[in-house]
Amino acid sequence: MNGYWTRRLQVLALLMLIPAMMLAAGCEQDEGPTGPVVEGAAVPLQYIGYSDAVNRNPSCVQCHQETTFGWRLTAHADALTTIQESEHAASYCYPCHTTGWDTSDSLLGADDAWAAASSDTLMYRDVQCEVCHGPGSQHNNAYVDSPTDVLQPVDSELWDAELCGKCHEGTHHPYMEEWELSAHAGADASAGGLVATNPSCAECHIAQSFERWVTTGESGYIASDPQPITCQACHTAHSNDNPGQLRLPLGQNVICAKCHNAEGALPGETVHHATWEVFNGTLGFGYSGEEYENSTHTTALATEACVACHVFSSPYVSEAVPAKTGHTFEPRIEACQQCHEGATDFDINGVQTEIQGLITQLQAEIDAAGTAQETTTSYLNAKFVLEAMISEGSLGVHNTDYSRKLLEDALADFTPVPSGSGGGR
Ligand code: HEC
Ligand code: HEC
Ligand code: HEC
Ligand code: HEC
Ligand code: HEC
Ligand code: HEC
Ligand code: HEC
Ligand code: HEC
Ligand code: HEC
Repeated sequence: MNGYWTRRLQVLALLMLIPAMMLAAGCEQDEGPTGPVVEGAAVPLQYIGYSDAVNRNPSCVQCHQETTFGWRLTAHADALTTIQESEHAASYCYPCHTTGWDTSDSLLGADDAWAAASSDTLMYRDVQCEVCHGPGSQHNNAYVDSPTDVLQPVDSELWDAELCGKCHEGTHHPYMEEWELSAHAGADASAGGLVATNPSCAECHIAQSFERWVTTGESGYIASDPQPITCQACHTAHSNDNPGQLRLPLGQNVICAKCHNAEGALPGETVHHATWEVFNGTLGFGYSGEEYENSTHTTALATEACVACHVFSSPYVSEAVPAKTGHTFEPRIEACQQCHEGATDFDINGVQTEIQGLITQLQAEIDAAGTAQETTTSYLNAKFVLEAMISEGSLGVHNTDYSRKLLEDALADFTPVPSGSGGGR
């Protein structure tokens, strides 16, 4: 007999022994099996992957159809093909382009399948649902009793920028590094953190509250673990309806405008961040009888608007010249240079200097006004224009003609009457 058959017979003998051993033990099965999954028992924590890799069907599709169909149209659902079609696949590429790559744990994820060189490899290709939601075995089996079993708690890891940042980082795509530098990364700390618990602030400062607001219309939702304006605030994982998987379209730039607006403020009220209205020339106030025209940016950048200057990306060239993703959200001079050849700073044609001058002049006049004057219409109008022009943030770049004319009109309409000078009533 050759070795192969010797081993087979040994195995067979061992298998035949097992029932005999169980009989000897008096068939005490009360402790329950420790072996494979049985309904109601503790299910091991494992990745499930595709149930049908050819059609990109993760097991989740049985119960979460719409979500799956949306996800399937995103680049995540084809991430392994991208590696295979690139001319330079290497082992270190896989963790970011597959599901469940975790060398520290044996969870049946992509690393385990690769190590075993098994045909299951296909099951764990691409950035599937379980990459973000965690291994699905317990959830899939126990959903009736406890649908949230094992999946990441929705309010903590799921909303953390690091969820996306662990792959969207590095010199080829430094989204995470740039986002961390952006003001958005600290939006939960504004006003000493008050914004996270105050329902009238949260929807523009907290990711979860913003998502509720734009997807269900529910205003003022307060999350238990509030996150700043993370990737998940602006991007969705389950739809490619808008460019870049954004929650709201670019077009008229609804995504930025949803927060960067004057909240309908009128003279007499405080104006915060009037950017959107100034960009479009649509503040709720203008001097009667005057005509306001918009500069070219309002229309020339209509399809992209804010993003054209504030989310301007450039590709990876080398380790010394890494990619830029535009995710600091600060305007880049390279963006201006596309249309303004040779521009070296934002003060093109001296516009920022000029508008700053008008703002300084109006500020001085407002400061010179006596208390008695502070309730007059011309004061309130001038103050409104001043606050709008400071809070819109660009010193006239967003909409030069509109900004200049409003400031000039305010200066012409308002003359300060200092306290004690006898006038102002
Ligand atoms: C057999 C049906 C079934 C399968 C398969 C299934 N789910 Fe669920 N899932 C549910 C039900 C039921 C709920 C609770 C109702 C709801 O929120 O829609 C739920 C809820 C969820 C939630 C929301 C949890 C929360 O805290 O609000 C997520 C996320 C989720 N499932 C992801 C997945 C993922 C990822 C998979 C695949 C690995 C999956 N589900 C597979 C039935 C299923
Ligand atoms: C496991 C790594 C991984 C995680 C986690 C991950 N991504 Fe990705 N993402 C990728 C890869 C890889 C691609 C490129 C896929 C391709 O082009 O084949 C990609 C592509 C994208 C794209 C499309 C880019 C394009 O150029 O078309 C967007 C948008 C995106 N991811 C957003 C997110 C967001 C938001 C999150 C977090 C909620 C996230 N990703 C989490 C790896 C990841
Ligand atoms: C740290 C995680 C990570 C690693 C490692 C990684 N990728 Fe990616 N890859 C991504 C992400 C994230 C994207 C999406 C980038 C975007 O849309 O800007 C991506 C996109 C791509 C793309 C689409 C074109 C592009 O650049 O946007 C190709 C091709 C690609 N990767 C190939 C590779 C290859 C080949 C390797 C290994 C040599 C590799 N990747 C390693 C995360 C990774
Ligand atoms: C790149 C990360 C990522 C991937 C991949 C992903 N999700 Fe999600 N999912 C999230 C995040 C973040 C949230 C919470 C924010 C939201 O709802 O957009 C979420 C929310 C959910 C919810 C609860 C809220 C809702 O929309 O009903 C379900 C259910 C869900 N995902 C299922 C899935 C399924 C099924 C897949 C795969 C087909 C999947 N997810 C793929 C990140 C991801
Ligand atoms: C309509 C959306 C919106 C609402 C609602 C909102 N904010 Fe803001 N907030 C913004 C935007 C946009 C900025 C950034 C403005 C800029 O710098 O141009 C901002 C900036 C701030 C800043 C300055 C940044 C800093 O950290 O110093 C503070 C403080 C602030 N908000 C507090 C609040 C408080 C308090 C509330 C609730 C009473 C609130 N916000 C409600 C959108 C909003
Ligand atoms: C304030 C909103 C906002 C936040 C926060 C944000 N992004 Fe973006 N992201 C955008 C916009 C706008 C674009 C440009 C979309 C376009 O021009 O098509 C973009 C583009 C991208 C793209 C390229 C998509 C494509 O199709 O080329 C990826 C990938 C991406 N973001 C990932 C991330 C990641 C990862 C984070 C968190 C670290 C993040 N984003 C945070 C708004 C945001
Ligand atoms: C969910 C609401 C929200 C969205 C969407 C949003 N922002 Fe913001 N943005 C804020 C808040 C709040 C701050 C102030 C954060 C702080 O300073 O604490 C801010 C700050 C900024 C700043 C820095 C302002 C300063 O004075 O330093 C820029 C620039 C900016 N956002 C641009 C954008 C662009 C461009 C988009 C669209 C791609 C966008 N934002 C989308 C809420 C938002
Ligand atoms: C034509 C290019 C351009 C467009 C389009 C544009 N911006 Fe700006 N934005 C600028 C410049 C330039 C500044 C001034 C930056 C400086 O002086 O440091 C600025 C300033 C800002 C600031 C405050 C200061 C800061 O930290 O950057 C915010 C907030 C802002 N823009 C948001 C937006 C929003 C929202 C939109 C869309 C409605 C938009 N921008 C469209 C170029 C642009
Ligand atoms: C997509 C093209 C485009 C981009 C990008 C762009 N601009 Fe413009 N901009 C124009 C056009 C067209 C005009 C009107 C013609 C002119 O004055 O040159 C204009 C006008 C201006 C004006 C008014 C000039 C005046 O004297 O009235 C300023 C200031 C300006 N741009 C600054 C900027 C800055 C700063 C950036 C980058 C942050 C920028 N632009 C990006 C197309 C663009």
